[in-house]
Amino acid sequence: EELRSLGLANQRLAINGVFHASDPNDPIAQAIEALGREAMATMPDTLAQLPRDEVPLRAFDTVGLPALRALLGASVRPEPVEGLAGFGQAQAERKASLPAEPLSRMADELAAKGHGLIMVMGKGGVGKTTIAAALAVGLVQRGHSVHLTTTDPAAHVADTLNGSLEGLKVGRIDPKAETEAYIAKIMASKGKDLDEQGRALLLEDLQSPCTEEVAVFHAFSRVVNTARSAFVVLDTAPTGHSLLLMDATGAYHRQMTQQYETKADGSSASGLHIVTPLMRLQDASITHVVIVTLPETTPVTQAAALQDDLRRAHIEPWAWVINKSIAASGTSDPLLRARLEGERTQTQRIADGLAKRTFVLPWLAQPPVGVEALGTLVAVGAKGLS
Ligand SMILES: Nc1ncnc2c1ncn2[C@@H]1O[C@H](COP(=O)(O)OP(=O)(O)OP(=O)(O)O)[C@@H](O)[C@H]1O
Ligand SMILES: [Mg+2]
Repeated sequence: EELRSLGLANQRLAINGVFHASDPNDPIAQAIEALGREAMATMPDTLAQLPRDEVPLRAFDTVGLPALRALLGASVRPEPVEGLAGFGQAQAERKASLPAEPLSRMADELAAKGHGLIMVMGKGGVGKTTIAAALAVGLVQRGHSVHLTTTDPAAHVADTLNGSLEGLKVGRIDPKAETEAYIAKIMASKGKDLDEQGRALLLEDLQSPCTEEVAVFHAFSRVVNTARSAFVVLDTAPTGHSLLLMDATGAYHRQMTQQYETKADGSSASGLHIVTPLMRLQDASITHVVIVTLPETTPVTQAAALQDDLRRAHIEPWAWVINKSIAASGTSDPLLRARLEGERTQTQRIADGLAKRTFVLPWLAQPPVGVEALGTLVAVGAKGLS
């Protein structure tokens, strides 16, 4: 719509990865097909009216020239691309021992720490909210009280949980609200003794884009602080890059507060120490970073970039979660099984050098929505296979 309003009306819709189950008795295959059908049936009119191409889901990962050639051509398998070669024999053995543990193990281990911050990170749509909510429920199951905080629109977490649980508190960091509250607070404190011109000047200073970062930084600091004695699960945490930015804005805040709040004797006001949360995030005894990815080439590459970004901020991720694993789902659909080879390559890639610990959540025929469904994923002793 945006493009059309700019006069770019020659549009065409390409729907990629359209899946048709070949085994009517395979619940996973049926569920995946139904999801696609549903999405296409309910797409907005502006899209539905466009001329449309559908590219079927292929049995191979679509990275590399042979794969790209095969993508739009007949549905023949491309020659094995580099990295997939030599898989044949060892494959069957690997199948039995996917180098990844179920989510319940992750909940066990985190629960054993007694408290701390769990930051669930990853690219859009990989399952961050689902994993964060499941871990939160798992910690509550193990007798802990948990604060689940999101920077997503709060409704997503509420929808995912679809209910409440004693011991589980859900909160949200809303950048807009945090910024407004922060400006109001500074105006009420630092602005209160200034004359009209001074107040106008201060307010102008506060209109800087830095203010939002400082405000979010404060909200985030508050959350990080509570993790010293309780469990805090953070859904969609800031990336390493923005953490460094926020840390830099801490300096801006210090400067602001010194400039506007000085005691009668000239000393700087007390009680305004800015404790950078970065130091706590770097402390592996407090913070556990969980990176969520799908077992496909590009998502894994993006997750690896996120990990590098965190490492630049001197934050070492604790574990990865491979979500929507087909290998772990137990499907027998031939196309999905053929895709397993690609998935296994990615799982191996993660286990061989990217992740210190790897956990897995299978592709579930029923999306894990609701406290109960989430609870079964992380229940003590759960295998994670459905
Ligand atoms: N293992 C799974 N099996 C089946 N469906 C899943 C699985 N994990 C997540 N989903 C579904 O996939 C969708 C996306 O998951 P989710 O909202 O957790 O992703 P997200 O990373 O938080 O997304 P965003 O980046 O938009 O916040 C949801 O509908 C969720 O129910
Ligand atoms: Mg989310």
